[in-house]
Amino acid sequence: MKVGILGTGPVGRALGHGFATLGYETMIGAREAGNAKAAEWAAAHAGSGRAGTFADAAAFGDVIVVATLGTVLPEVAAAAGPQNFAGKVVIDTTNPLDMSRGFPPGLAIVGHDSGGETLQRALPEARVVKAFNTVNNGLMFRPRFEGGPPAMMIAGNDADAKVTVSRILAEFGWPALDLGTLVSARWLEAMCIAWVMVGITTGKWDHAFKVVNAASDTPSGE
Ligand SMILES: NC(=O)c1ccc[n+]([C@@H]2O[C@H](COP(=O)([O-])OP(=O)(O)OC[C@H]3O[C@@H](n4cnc5c(N)ncnc54)[C@H](OP(=O)(O)O)[C@@H]3O)[C@@H](O)[C@H]2O)c1
Repeated sequence: MKVGILGTGPVGRALGHGFATLGYETMIGAREAGNAKAAEWAAAHAGSGRAGTFADAAAFGDVIVVATLGTVLPEVAAAAGPQNFAGKVVIDTTNPLDMSRGFPPGLAIVGHDSGGETLQRALPEARVVKAFNTVNNGLMFRPRFEGGPPAMMIAGNDADAKVTVSRILAEFGWPALDLGTLVSARWLEAMCIAWVMVGITTGKWDHAFKVVNAASDTPSGE
């Protein structure tokens, strides 16, 4: 399996490091050829890593990761070439953050839509799965948590694609928790803001959300 990554930021490079470390041929793509961050990443992962444009990375990958600014997904899809995504599993890590009123951010897409669904509409032949968007990039590959890793919550319309992403997550050190169709990207993207608020209030930025169940003898609510 070859992996194409669209995005040279911390997420693209962290996931690229994970895939390359696991032995997958991996290409990181940027808007322009010759991007310094992509070139530096490829040099640091010589052997399995290489650099290119968004279109190069999309054409290269059997699985494609989208790790760009989350408010420009139609533009990213157009630059990468929608034909390069036909039938492929696409992991959408993005959040459509609206920084126009400062920090903490809001979401530029809310209500009955999401960045994940926006990306799926821009890439109708792709099989988009939302994943990795609710944790810090430093925790994406082989995280260590007290009490073991929580499950990574994912969402997507294609069951087989979610099986593939769950297998990748397992290799990265994450169990997966399937939240259903890509409609759930709306709530996963909102969780990103909750994640930021936990960071602001606790002063720590190494957290993740975990679903836990009550003890079996706990009376259920009405
Ligand atoms: N940082 C985290 O820990 C974290 C965690 C979970 C999810 N996320 C989400 O993951 C995504 C990536 O985050 P990040 O922090 O790695 O990087 P980022 O700074 O949000 O995005 C960097 C990438 O976006 C591209 N980009 C920037 N402006 C663009 C535009 N106008 N048109 C097309 N592409 C553009 C850049 O292209 P060039 O390469 O050409 O410069 C670069 O590849 C974001 O949506 C973020 O919300 C981030």
